[in-house]
Amino acid sequence: MLIPLILSGGSGTRLWPVSRKNLPKQFLSLTGQGTLFQQTVARTRLLPGVGAPIVVASEDHRFLAAEQLLESGIEGAAIVLEPVARNTAPAIALGALQAIARDPQALLLVLPADHLIGDTESFTDAVQRALPAAQQGWLVTFGIRPDRPETGFGYIRRAEAIGEGAYRVEQFVEKPVLATAKSYLADGSYDWNSGMFLFKASRYLEELAEYAPAMLEAVRVAHASATTDLDFVRLDQDAFAKVPDNSIDYAVMEKTQRAAVIPVSCDWSDIGSWAALWLAGVRDAQGNLREGDTIAVNTKNSLLRSHDRHLLATVGVDDLIVVTTPDATLVAHRDAAQDVKRVVDELKAAG
Ligand code: GDD
Ligand code: MG
Repeated sequence: MLIPLILSGGSGTRLWPVSRKNLPKQFLSLTGQGTLFQQTVARTRLLPGVGAPIVVASEDHRFLAAEQLLESGIEGAAIVLEPVARNTAPAIALGALQAIARDPQALLLVLPADHLIGDTESFTDAVQRALPAAQQGWLVTFGIRPDRPETGFGYIRRAEAIGEGAYRVEQFVEKPVLATAKSYLADGSYDWNSGMFLFKASRYLEELAEYAPAMLEAVRVAHASATTDLDFVRLDQDAFAKVPDNSIDYAVMEKTQRAAVIPVSCDWSDIGSWAALWLAGVRDAQGNLREGDTIAVNTKNSLLRSHDRHLLATVGVDDLIVVTTPDATLVAHRDAAQDVKRVVDELKAAG
């Protein structure tokens, strides 16, 4: 059975002040057609023979996840609740154990809950293309053609073809420094790692056993002591706190000998920042992306987002991000969008 594993544990700090600790970006409707989480789940429903999703999320967001699934008419999901965040490698291990309990042969389609995909058909097509390789034991990644030397992504170097539109991965490099990213872009044989994966749940656990055995053991202990109530799978806080923190990219993908890549072109954005949302959105003739009550006089290439009939007006400015909420306003240069998370750092430090 093909089981979607929706990773929903991120905190989305770079989309402050709209994305907050209690309502992070995956649970927000940023593009107007349901929340990013709901859009992610909805995409999986188009895959033939797909099972109910497994969601791995922070315990703090259990009601958001449950309500949004209910609203989408999804039944039979499992919502695994993390008492603390330990990054994606343990979250996926939890999902794999959960999936294997349902079906020992389960194929796991790992999907970040916070990505925007414009062309759903290309996405479902790519997943179908990935199925044979995943059945054969490959850990399949989905590669996106890079158009800039982004340092926030993993880079995948293609080797020979192993099937229709599928290639063995020669090298996987997570978040290279800028000079390296530039050389990969110039080289032309690297794709971005989209952060979506397809593999047999059992194969992922075998890889963890090889490259991160202590993590696998700690996740097994935590999962073995989990209790289920309604759709929620609750983990013991002390047991899960013992799990080492790492991402799948560093823990497994950089090391495995069995990675494959399926190149996809599906208008993909990880909505990592306001600048990414601006880039992915439908902008007006002046290059502005506007939401809510806004007036933009002599304003270009800006993202203007106002809340609740609060009128937001700009005059004679370019390349700005202006976001208002009832209790906070953000004004940032579009080039500095990554640094918005520093505001959240300061807020945290101030308690
Ligand atoms: N359940 C759970 N628990 N989910 C988590 C956790 C966690 O502790 N940490 C992160 N996630 C979720 C996030 O919500 C997101 O949907 C996904 O896992 C990926 O985590 P990010 O923190 O957003 O990773 P990244 O963007 O820095 O890097 C990854 O994605 C890039 C593409 O967007 C990597 O896979 C890169 O290689 C990739 O290029
Ligand atoms: Mg991300």
